[in-house]
Amino acid sequence: MVVGVQNMTKDVRLDRIFSSFKGEKGELIPVLQAVQDEYGYLTRDAMVEIARFTGASESNVFGVASFYAQFRLQPTGRNKIHVCRGTACHVRGAPQILEEVERQLGIKEGESTPDMEYSLETVAGGGCCALAPVVTINDEVHGRLSLKDVASILPLKETA
Ligand code: FES
Repeated sequence: MVVGVQNMTKDVRLDRIFSSFKGEKGELIPVLQAVQDEYGYLTRDAMVEIARFTGASESNVFGVASFYAQFRLQPTGRNKIHVCRGTACHVRGAPQILEEVERQLGIKEGESTPDMEYSLETVAGGGCCALAPVVTINDEVHGRLSLKDVASILPLKETA
């Protein structure tokens, strides 16, 4: 049997992650987090392997991964945009900021652009409420935003 290099690499990475755990059902969430940290999202194959490793059923693993907003089942774009929807940001216009970002990127929360350049998510508090409303793009924090600021913070490609 011929095993593809990519699959071999993937198995080694999973094995390395699994070696930090005991393989118990109670570890399901930390294992999912560790695998997502490594791959950027949870592939179907990885979730099957996680089920096998932890002894949880596949439906339980898929259910947990789907239920919690922290888990991504799709790959993310190269630029990760997070709009804070915490209370301070909400009262200072975060819903309108989110709508404007969605409009400019042509995607909805939880989606990535077709070219995988951008992904858009919301977070429930960014820890810098004095700057509300806050949007982070990768590691850059943009605060005290107004609707007219949105275009200038998005690393949009030139349009023809
Ligand atoms: S509520 Fe958004 S940074 Fe605190």
